[in-house]
Amino acid sequence: MGYYEDVKEAADYVRGRIQTVPDLAIVLGSGLGDFAGTLGDAVSMPYGDIPHWPASKVVGHEGRLVVGTVGGRTIAALSGRCHTYEGHDLKTVTFAVRVLGLLGVKMLVLTNAAGGINTGFSQGALMVIDDHINLIGSNPLVGPNDERFGVRFPDMSEVYSKRLRGIADEAGRAIGMPLPHGVYVGLLGPSYETPAEIRFLRTIGADAVGMSTVPEAIAARHMGIEVLGISCITNMAAGVLPEPLDHNEVMETAKRVRGQFIGLLKEVIARA
Ligand code: HPA
Repeated sequence: MGYYEDVKEAADYVRGRIQTVPDLAIVLGSGLGDFAGTLGDAVSMPYGDIPHWPASKVVGHEGRLVVGTVGGRTIAALSGRCHTYEGHDLKTVTFAVRVLGLLGVKMLVLTNAAGGINTGFSQGALMVIDDHINLIGSNPLVGPNDERFGVRFPDMSEVYSKRLRGIADEAGRAIGMPLPHGVYVGLLGPSYETPAEIRFLRTIGADAVGMSTVPEAIAARHMGIEVLGISCITNMAAGVLPEPLDHNEVMETAKRVRGQFIGLLKEVIARA
């Protein structure tokens, strides 16, 4: 069986477990995973139960897909994602997005933790992703193209939907938190960047740096899904401040702004 058939089997499994097919899905980045647990009338599917889904051990025990309601609307929330730095190929990393696409999801909100390259940002800011730069070193569409997913050479001139970015701005105003916008650069990781790399990334036009989101956004656009990306600036990037970078700091900041981030997501869901 091929990749498309595996994705289809997973999508059929999910469809068979839910009453209403969601048109919007959210991939929950660092510190946001438990938002999935707040959905109403929820159907929770551990990744290990979904056929062919990258095994839950790669994303931690919390890995699950939850379909449930927020403000009366049915959405899908993914708690736990697969990263390229764990050693997975990009087809595996984007499996979840492919399943959501075949299920019928039309809008995908990708959230992540990122380092702030733009010195105008403050730690804890939530940045609307206007565009990305792919420096992961590969692309999830490498290999034979399956036309059932999309075209060979998909357009990437508006990966992050202008309409959804406008909705994110409205949502930010609604929670009294005007949102900065910027360009996200995706790197392979898992080591953090050097100060010289950060100066380079600033020069090429990046405002924030992280290790996820880019492959998922490309796969989603390949399938015609409308994408919104929001980064939590959990730390200033390497060399901006005199201190070394630390994953605990990333998790602490993500935890600190979790309430605001979830508030923002709820306002986005209500408007999207
Ligand atoms: N660099 C890369 N990825 C990250 C960072 C960073 O500084 N912070 C959170 N994710």
